[in-house]
Amino acid sequence: MSQRPATLKPLISRKSGALQGALSVPGDKSISHRSLILGALAEGRTEIKGLLESEDILCTARVLQQLGANIQRTADGWTVIGSGLGGLTQPDSPLDFGNSGTGARLMMGVVAGHPVRALFTGDASLQKRPMGRILDPLKKMGLETGEEGRNTLPLTLIGTTGLVPLEYRLPVPSAQVKSAILLAGLLTAGRTSVIEAEQTRDHTEKMLTYFGAAVSATPAEGGMRISVEGQKALEGKPVTVPGDPSSAAFLAAAAILRPGSSVLIRNVLVNPTRTGFYKTLTEMGGSLTFENERELNGEPVADLRAEASRLRGVRVPAERAPSMIDEYPILAALAAFAEGETVMEGLAELRVKESDRLGAMAAGLSACGVQAGARGDTLTVAGSQKVPGGAIIATHMDHRIAMAFLVLGLAAEEPVTVDDASMISTSFPEFQDLMQKLGASFEAAG
Ligand code: S3P
Repeated sequence: MSQRPATLKPLISRKSGALQGALSVPGDKSISHRSLILGALAEGRTEIKGLLESEDILCTARVLQQLGANIQRTADGWTVIGSGLGGLTQPDSPLDFGNSGTGARLMMGVVAGHPVRALFTGDASLQKRPMGRILDPLKKMGLETGEEGRNTLPLTLIGTTGLVPLEYRLPVPSAQVKSAILLAGLLTAGRTSVIEAEQTRDHTEKMLTYFGAAVSATPAEGGMRISVEGQKALEGKPVTVPGDPSSAAFLAAAAILRPGSSVLIRNVLVNPTRTGFYKTLTEMGGSLTFENERELNGEPVADLRAEASRLRGVRVPAERAPSMIDEYPILAALAAFAEGETVMEGLAELRVKESDRLGAMAAGLSACGVQAGARGDTLTVAGSQKVPGGAIIATHMDHRIAMAFLVLGLAAEEPVTVDDASMISTSFPEFQDLMQKLGASFEAAG
């Protein structure tokens, strides 16, 4: 079972000059997970280019291999030879998802529809995260769990070929829950539907459609009903994974913060269910331009230019949260430098991410001399021209907390140290290298 790495990797970020350059960020994490999973459930060959090769994705690839999937890294990408719907087999060891909530939760939907018994586990952060939100609907469909009697990992799942279809209203806005149910529905005779009040990322629906599944989205009382017709075979397809907008957000933020900066990030996913951060940053006065918009296997992509800008505080409405849920740590770091106050509402889900991100951001910002507070599900940050910095930040095994404070350190008066940068490899292994190439001043701590 993976735990926190034995050696922590503290990293220091210092005030830096202008950031300049043109680059690409690695593939989108959400789409990478889905391309491996759908490839394994499809018939025939799925060639994936631009797959994110981060720890989270490698965990999903390994788990699928343990379930009998044929997945190989090739000279220019990854190839999955699909097992077909229901074709995965009994694993002979526990399925370790490392730090990845997405991997664990999506694969719960897949395992639910196969006649296998599997122990799901993960690192100390993942073991704290709520799984009841996935298990409740899957149990209604026929999934059984082992004797552990809890809603956290490690947990045994007992799947079946006899799932029954479900119509389920999401109690929390979560693409992971929606996707797990749709994947289980794909393996179930009949139509399975999820009703969501607030739109969450729709990559599962898009990719299912691209692979030939019958998926529909129709208005329902209080939101949208997303349905999948079960047991219709998927056909393997070539997938090119666009750059991850959640990773690009850190580079764009760094460019915004340092005077004289101009950074071009090529090939960024701009699916509207993911671009709330860029909308907010534009409202704050950030200079962002999207150029060369085009489509890549059903997903919109563009090149993004970010330039140094003066920011002003804004109110970020709760309805926007699903489209920027992973970007609040970096937005909160940016808000520290804005003129006036930034109020971010509707952030209850941030408490159950890789760490309690609401608490971690409020604590880290306060340690850096910023007036910040979390009350209920609202985070408020008072901006200032000069952010003192000079703190050691507790990252709580959370890659995005680490990256957010490393970006903050580039513009703070005194260096900022994150207690552990090793978790960054779960989503963005190239972060340090790319940032340094642009001109960021990072240095390993003593
Ligand atoms: C993801 C959905 C989001 C997000 C996570 C990736 C996905 O989680 O925070 O990083 O790929 O479906 P929730 O759906 O639980 O909000």
